[in-house]
Amino acid sequence: MKLFAVALALGALMLTPARAEEIVIKFSHVVAPNTPKGKGAERFKELAEKYTAGKVKVEVYPNSQLYKDKEELEALQLGAVQMLAPSLAKFGPLGIKDFEAFDLPYMFADRTALRKVTEGPIGKQMLGLLESKGITGLAFWDNGFKIMSANKPLRTPDDFLGLKMRIQSSKVLEAQMKALGALPQVMAFSEVYQALQTGVVDGTENPPSNMYTQKMNEVQKYATLSRHGYLGYAVIVNKKFWDGLPAEVKPELQKAMVEATVYANDIAEKENDDAIEAMKAAGKTEFITLTADQAKAWRAALKPVWSEMASRIGKERIAEMAKAAGSE
Ligand code: LMR
Repeated sequence: MKLFAVALALGALMLTPARAEEIVIKFSHVVAPNTPKGKGAERFKELAEKYTAGKVKVEVYPNSQLYKDKEELEALQLGAVQMLAPSLAKFGPLGIKDFEAFDLPYMFADRTALRKVTEGPIGKQMLGLLESKGITGLAFWDNGFKIMSANKPLRTPDDFLGLKMRIQSSKVLEAQMKALGALPQVMAFSEVYQALQTGVVDGTENPPSNMYTQKMNEVQKYATLSRHGYLGYAVIVNKKFWDGLPAEVKPELQKAMVEATVYANDIAEKENDDAIEAMKAAGKTEFITLTADQAKAWRAALKPVWSEMASRIGKERIAEMAKAAGSE
């Protein structure tokens, strides 16, 4: 009887069709889970797994758990991870300098201006540039407008003189800090908190959500609400992986991405506003609002970065983006 039961169970096992192999998407990123990008990645996971009825599993690795900035792009190209959302400032080292146009100071007055680029033909064409690097661009995700922080008040360009300022790996951001008289230092995002804490750098720039969720406010006494530049992301996948997806899976993933994008872009502004409020409540950082004259002096100091970077990014690229954004 017992033997019979075992035989029956074995038979049942053999009759069960082999499960189609599960497709795994490793989505690596460098920020905290409770940020616009972190939440967007989680929403994509949820929707992708639901729409593909479990055929696809998305594993999200936040906080540089798997890879730091530069490494993650290499890992994507090698196929060690399938999906990333690096900031637009990080595509230069890949050989695609066009994306650095997003870093130009005061390129976007607000999110409406930004959407004209990211949701229009320019955005589409720019994502297409990634194909030659073995990468498919799927969407633009928002973070927000940057603030400048340090342990001294930054009210006028003179206040930056000689300060070591951490930047992302963008030549535009390098030129921007130099235009202010600061000394730019490229550094991976995961290393910024410690560098600020130990004085390896004096200050940095970031959207408030990044500053707060990395606890940078604990080691920066002042932050200027300057909105001098924008930080956002391109969600990208390994092209070979994407092109090789089964026909019944891909549209479901595309649908999940469209919906996750709407969600991420909807929450980004509030996430950043909430981060400012939380940092104000924490009481470690004093927030500075520029007077009209100070804001004018920042603009005057930073605007030359546009012409300085024209030969690197391309004059036409800058002009067409500025035209779409209404920031000429
Ligand atoms: C940074 O390095 O400061 C940001 O790009 C991090 C991020 O992904 O938002």
